[in-house]
Amino acid sequence: MPPRILVTYATKHETTQEIADAIVATLREEGLDADALPAGRVASVADYDAVVIGSPLYMGKILKEAKQFVDHFADALQEKPVAAFAVGMSCKDLTDENRRKVESAMGPITGRIPIRGEMGMFAGRMNPSYIPVLGFFMHYDEAKTEDARDWGAIRAWAGRLPAALGIAVPPLPA
Ligand SMILES: Cc1cc2nc3c(=O)[nH]c(=O)nc-3n(C[C@H](O)[C@H](O)[C@H](O)COP(=O)(O)O)c2cc1C
Repeated sequence: MPPRILVTYATKHETTQEIADAIVATLREEGLDADALPAGRVASVADYDAVVIGSPLYMGKILKEAKQFVDHFADALQEKPVAAFAVGMSCKDLTDENRRKVESAMGPITGRIPIRGEMGMFAGRMNPSYIPVLGFFMHYDEAKTEDARDWGAIRAWAGRLPAALGIAVPPLPA
């Protein structure tokens, strides 16, 4: 049986879910067994050899589902290799200041459990309709979506995950 990795995420508008799906696809290409599951739907982490947690940032904070996941499974997660990624428009331009803000927003995760490897910091997707008051005053078709996700960077980070997590990649079939 190949090692099994859980990629769990919080999301409001599916941007982070699609990033989690891309991470899972990359891990599967490496021959690993990986599942993407919303943080609120994980019943147990016992069957996984490693866990990856992702959350978008809203008003400088991670979503409560990600925090609740970490709080709920804190003890079990101490025993496993864990990696984390943040999604936010501030990750488009990772200045030292933006990096510090993202690190601080991820504090409820990184302050609770040890994180392996570099934290993923991925630019997300933005649409004015995501902001309740703005969305109310704009017609849907004039609300321009900016999708700043860098799929190459996301897949490259995912490709480095097995080494960061200390998970052995199964040899390719001859
Ligand atoms: C109301 C609101 C607040 C936001 N606050 C932040 C923020 O503090 N930092 C940041 O980097 N991005 C921020 N964003 C951008 C979101 O993180 C981005 O849209 C992300 O892709 C949303 O992910 P989701 O679709 O998985 O919920 C904000 C977006 C909205 C709509």
